Amino acid sequence: MLSVWTRQDQVAGYDGKVTNTPQTNQPAQAATVLSTDQLGPYPDLAKIVLRHQDNPWRKPCPAHTRDAFEQLQKRLKGDNRPLILDSFCGTGMSTALIAVAHPDALVVGIDQSPHRLAKHQPSDAQNYLLLRAEAEPFWLCLVEAGITLHSHWLLYPNPWPKTSQFKRRVHGHGAFPVLSRMGGALELRTNWEIYAQEFAQATGLIGIHGQTASFTPNTPMTLFEQKYWDRGQKLWRFRGKCVI
Ligand SMILES: C[S@@+](CC[C@H](N)C(=O)[O-])C[C@H]1O[C@@H](n2cnc3c(N)ncnc32)[C@H](O)[C@@H]1O
Repeated sequence: MLSVWTRQDQVAGYDGKVTNTPQTNQPAQAATVLSTDQLGPYPDLAKIVLRHQDNPWRKPCPAHTRDAFEQLQKRLKGDNRPLILDSFCGTGMSTALIAVAHPDALVVGIDQSPHRLAKHQPSDAQNYLLLRAEAEPFWLCLVEAGITLHSHWLLYPNPWPKTSQFKRRVHGHGAFPVLSRMGGALELRTNWEIYAQEFAQATGLIGIHGQTASFTPNTPMTLFEQKYWDRGQKLWRFRGKCVI
């Protein structure tokens, strides 16, 4: 695979894990992002997103995701606060922080990995829950039940950096158009600028209006954010609003 970054990238491939030690010993100011063969946004992005828009995604909902959705529905029966979703929440650190920042909302963190969820450090906040669920069918469950969101956070989803992996990225996935149907504000964060650019381009095609910019976190919201920031990487965020 070609590297568009520095020589150190050859040993700094994305490993998908939070580790205590950096994968390279380079100084923070020379920090790299990931290895990719992509030099810019995916050329066929618009064609693929529009195809997904015209052919609604559907796949049988896994049992654990159906169970998770039923758990949420039960909770919502006695709780009509605005709903905030934290998709790909990992250990749920961001979910707890969002709950503290939004005491008048119910915050739901979802992740497909029971292993990551089990590492959650409980917080005193009472207004959040963590559920094991696959994000895409969970989103569809929400839409089909007519549940809309106050806001939706997508913090550092797996970048799938090879060109051939485009369809595994959030905006290359068949379920991507479902995002706009959930309503509310949307924030995506990534350490890969091309991913942020692609996401902004793709959201514009499905009725989500927003902008991408680099930013400096005051306090890291997630373990990945902490890791990237410690390594001196530039962070990017897309902030938008779903028009439904
Ligand atoms: C790079 S980690 C980021 C975790 C956390 N947001 C953070 O910033 O520390 C990506 C997470 O997405 C989860 N994930 C990947 N694909 C998923 C899917 N389709 N549905 C739910 N979770 C998924 C993984 O289990 C992993 O915890």
